[in-house]
Amino acid sequence: MTTGGALFDRKQADRDRRALIRTTRAISGLFRHPRTDAPSRASHGIWHRWDEFRARAKHAARAARHLDTQSRATLQQGLPYLVRACLQCHDQFRLNGHFK
Ligand code: HEC
Repeated sequence: MTTGGALFDRKQADRDRRALIRTTRAISGLFRHPRTDAPSRASHGIWHRWDEFRARAKHAARAARHLDTQSRATLQQGLPYLVRACLQCHDQFRLNGHFK
């Protein structure tokens, strides 16, 4: 999206923004039911603190929606908020290390 040197492609940035909105909006639905049939790093905390998990997902979707694809500069202003939203949820709800 903001690769140094490459020309800024607003259409592509718009597409990427929309994909990010779609995927972050889908997060809660994907985790609604705990799954035990697949290797996963999902923490059980997701289902013990479901409201908090959903709030984290909503926060990420909001940060994606607020991405401003007008220019490379405006995009670069918003991206850290989104990346932080991803990482905060992973810190809280994704297990590190090997799949169990
Ligand atoms: C609301 C919580 C939450 C948010 C927000 C979130 N993630 Fe995740 N993410 C998870 C959890 C939980 C897992 C572990 C899922 C598993 O292993 O079953 C995960 C796994 C991943 C993985 C590894 C997938 C794999 O196949 O192992 C990637 C890559 C990832 N997230 C990227 C992102 C990015 C990029 C964002 C932000 C745009 C994001 N995530 C936002 C909770 C979140």
